[in-house]
Amino acid sequence: MTQELTSPTRARQAPAPDRGPQWWRDAVIYQVYVRSFADSDGDGIGDLRGVRRRLPYLKSLGVDAVWLTPFYASPQADGGYDVADYRAVDPLFGSLQDADDLIRTAHEAGLRVIVDIVPNHTSDRHPWFMDPDLARERYVFRPGKGARGELPPNDWESVFGGPAWTRTDRGDWYLHLFAPEQPDLDWDNPEVHAEFAAIMRFWLDLGVDGFRIDVAHGMVKAPGLPDIGRGRQATLIGTQALPFFDQDGVHAIHRSWRRLLDSYPGDRIGVAEAWAPTAARLALYVRPDELHQAFNFQFLNAPWDAAPLRDVIDDSLAATASVGAPTTWVLSNHDVVRHTTRLGGGLDRARAATLLMLALPGSAYLYQGEELGLPEVTDLPDEVRQDPAFFRGGRPTGAAGPGTDTETAPDGLAGASGQDGFRDGCRVPLPWSGERPPYGFGAGGSWLPQPADWDALTVEAQTGDPASTLELYRTALRLRRELPGLGDGRMSWRPAPEGVLAFARSGVLCTVNTLGRTAELPLPGRVLLSSAPVPVTGSTALLPGDSCTWWAI
Ligand code: BGC
Repeated sequence: MTQELTSPTRARQAPAPDRGPQWWRDAVIYQVYVRSFADSDGDGIGDLRGVRRRLPYLKSLGVDAVWLTPFYASPQADGGYDVADYRAVDPLFGSLQDADDLIRTAHEAGLRVIVDIVPNHTSDRHPWFMDPDLARERYVFRPGKGARGELPPNDWESVFGGPAWTRTDRGDWYLHLFAPEQPDLDWDNPEVHAEFAAIMRFWLDLGVDGFRIDVAHGMVKAPGLPDIGRGRQATLIGTQALPFFDQDGVHAIHRSWRRLLDSYPGDRIGVAEAWAPTAARLALYVRPDELHQAFNFQFLNAPWDAAPLRDVIDDSLAATASVGAPTTWVLSNHDVVRHTTRLGGGLDRARAATLLMLALPGSAYLYQGEELGLPEVTDLPDEVRQDPAFFRGGRPTGAAGPGTDTETAPDGLAGASGQDGFRDGCRVPLPWSGERPPYGFGAGGSWLPQPADWDALTVEAQTGDPASTLELYRTALRLRRELPGLGDGRMSWRPAPEGVLAFARSGVLCTVNTLGRTAELPLPGRVLLSSAPVPVTGSTALLPGDSCTWWAI
């Protein structure tokens, strides 16, 4: 598919406004899951024009940048993470002109734009894979085992369930760490490197400010593709490198992409979606000559409990400091159970967790709808499901950090807290306004049904209500900009009762009560912002259960 820009792109001439070097070190970046954000043409599926129309909302929320999930030409076997043409926009989402218009309008509003790049695999409808000779050079094909080659080449399992290999009608097998419609590229082939560098240049020339690199830990496989041992994959995931995840060889690729990013003006960034077994392994992805950020999934996977949270925070900060990088905090995304539900404490706990995250040193990613306090939708009927893992008959298995158990999300892809383990429940389209579905999402319906009781959660219903979660996020992001002590910089722990965390940033103290009941603390100062009202008796603050407070000190 060839797409042309119908008007000369101005994005090329107007990079994002420069708000100082290293803007990303403390940026708040908002993840737009395009399919579910805003629908401009009434087909029930969000699109790029819908995003563009809602940019004023993102500006008023106070974020620095948006990350757009894949909108490229794709058969949509995995929500667009199966790309058939990396330089074309899928007609579901619009046109290349719409992408150009969106980038330009975002820049005019002072928002940066990060796009997804999917280098571990393509769609099986990609021209390379459709051509049997090209495919054998550029993807991972192997003969099968067994007398007639009828068994897969090794025992690797797909993240979405079942074997990681599919046999072709020629009799050999190809590797797919994800769905069979997502064949793994062979990164030993220099043409693969050249193609991805060219794709990145294409989008950088269009003005994007960086890339979220999908499965950044996956491109390189151990030589010989060794067996893992039947039944061991699930237990090893998250605790050590696997022959297909977090191999040292991926770092050479990231170094080459850093050189490419640095060859463009304006601080363009790469953020790794890398599931590494430890904070120290994750920090390797953000060494000075590699990527700028790596999502901290160990924080995301941490239980809501003061002691383990403190350990994760300490480990993360120490690991990233050892390479001079900031830590990149995240609580929700399109692959995990929304934190309102996942943390098991409803909105109180979710609001507290968010204020904790936004008080920590470094940058943070928000996932669309968390600013509305949206819960996971847990009762989607089977017939509307789209997550390929649902149809592969098993809970996804991947590469989560320590602490993962069978109920929690390996690779962040499975459920937690009694959830069903699939990913449609966090992808339900956003409620913008009105009393009934589709709540202003678009003029038609919505590709996943929205709950009947989301009328109180719409942007419209929450705007201007100081007790709302939306206004809490707005105020938190405004304070983060105004208070020099927040964002990048140092923090130091302060004494606190068991179950409570207290840490100081310059001029600000953050207290977090992870207990389900009130905790007492000597009054530290004046409340700047709190996830719940904090009563004071004399010189004692009564921190409500599951709350977080920012104090001026
Ligand atoms: C993406 C998932 C996707 C998978 C395969 C993940 O990292 O976030 O949504 O299914 O990669 O591309």
